[in-house]
Amino acid sequence: MSNFAIIRIRRGEKKIWTFYMKVLLRAGRRTGRHLMREDNIIEVRDLEHSFGEIQAVRSVSFSVRKGEIFSFLGPNGAGKSTTINVLTTLLPIQKGTVRVAGYDLAREPERVRESIGIVFQDEVLDRDLTVWETMEFHGRLYSIPRDERRQRIDDMLAVVELEAKRDVRTKHLSGGMKRRLEIARGLMTRPEVLFLDEPTQGLDPQTRLRMWDYIRQVNAAGTTIFLTTHYMDEADMLSDRISIIDHGRIVVTGTPEELKDALGEDVIYLETVDDARAEEAIQGIDEIRSITESPRGLSITISTDGSHCLPRIVELVRGAGIDIVSANLKKPTMDDVFVHYTGRELRDMGG
Ligand SMILES: Nc1ncnc2c1ncn2[C@@H]1O[C@H](COP(=O)(O)OP(=O)(O)OP(=O)(O)O)[C@@H](O)[C@H]1O
Ligand SMILES: [Mg+2]
Repeated sequence: MSNFAIIRIRRGEKKIWTFYMKVLLRAGRRTGRHLMREDNIIEVRDLEHSFGEIQAVRSVSFSVRKGEIFSFLGPNGAGKSTTINVLTTLLPIQKGTVRVAGYDLAREPERVRESIGIVFQDEVLDRDLTVWETMEFHGRLYSIPRDERRQRIDDMLAVVELEAKRDVRTKHLSGGMKRRLEIARGLMTRPEVLFLDEPTQGLDPQTRLRMWDYIRQVNAAGTTIFLTTHYMDEADMLSDRISIIDHGRIVVTGTPEELKDALGEDVIYLETVDDARAEEAIQGIDEIRSITESPRGLSITISTDGSHCLPRIVELVRGAGIDIVSANLKKPTMDDVFVHYTGRELRDMGG
């Protein structure tokens, strides 16, 4: 490489040299993109962020795959917004490395900004602009040409079902409508990644379900989603993968199923006509971790997948001539996972 360059300079062929530099730069950029695993659209390594004495984010590492819905699930003050704000260049990067859409955050923040859309935790709408003006203003800010801009406004307002409200000032919208407008605005630039900080905070159950639909639609159309939430059901229902974050640290990462299965605390509730004898009948099953008796039957904790154990339990009990009144299997919920990793108390870090 250097030989080539030196020869050209000696011969004074400035044109070729300039061309060569351009090729090199382009190749460099491509190489840069390739440093990331092809399918990772976000890579975060050892990210730390402090506000004075408060360590909001402590050595956080994770990656988000292209095309997935990835969630940060954590209690108040866990460091979710701080992480999102660093990743979207709103806060300066203090320590660690971040790559978004192939670009290094510290070196090419502009490129990162061009590749992303953001919906902040707190509402950021000009109260006196109409729905349409809000979108138009944003499109102009990003220099989207007029015709294309108008088309995208129509398209996005259709996706979030706000066409009927296009001439209404944002101060007259409901909370759910405002949130939908913010999502439409975040999507106007056709981002590769959409960051959603607590997208359904404070919304009623129906509006939340609709919002999940929008998010799924947007994702299905090819946008990777990074969202934060403190709602277990939201993380569970929406995410391909979840990182549980607490006290500024990721405590566990996995698919919702992996996280729930890993707890290994499937419980079978068994009601029979003779619980004491039923308990004796199933003593030999290795996967049973504990059996407790209650007025409403036996509560049997299973160390593996309870759905495989249940038929054997039923067979053994029936085989011993004991009638079964009811049998229920309870798998761990995301609430169980969350409590397991973060404890029960309400908390605010640094508070
Ligand atoms: N601008 C700031 N100045 C000082 N401290 C801050 C600032 N922003 C956040 N913090 C602190 O950093 C910690 C993490 O806050 P962050 O907003 O990231 O949490 P979060 O997980 O988004 O919480 P929530 O669920 O309440 O939105 C908290 O202790 C918070 O008080
Ligand atoms: Mg937050």
